[in-house]
Amino acid sequence: VNDPAVRIAREPLEEGRVIRFAVQLDGVRRGALALRWHGQVRAWLDTCRHQSLPLSAPDGHVFDAGAGELVCDRHGARYRPDTGECTSGPCRGAFLTALALEERPDGTWCTGRGGPAGLAP
Ligand code: FES
Repeated sequence: VNDPAVRIAREPLEEGRVIRFAVQLDGVRRGALALRWHGQVRAWLDTCRHQSLPLSAPDGHVFDAGAGELVCDRHGARYRPDTGECTSGPCRGAFLTALALEERPDGTWCTGRGGPAGLAP
């Protein structure tokens, strides 16, 4: 299945500010998160590796900027925003599913599954 790329923002992502969006993966619509952290843009499925529930709270809160960690609203699993690794909580050691981002002249696009080189897909 060739899932279409989706533009998630017209302007460059702001440091430390999470954008939530939807992406088609293998024909299935999934919630996703993107942010810039320490200058690098990253995107992940908004799906916790503990019970496959959304990380983000109903009000959208998902990032603890003070700690520099994505936090699951359900049982508190914490993930690194750069690698997607769960560093504490019930799914410690698991990785979020990485999505590929492209910064283009007309905005930031998610082009599907895949992440930065060297990261687990
Ligand atoms: S579903 Fe995320 S910590 Fe349990």
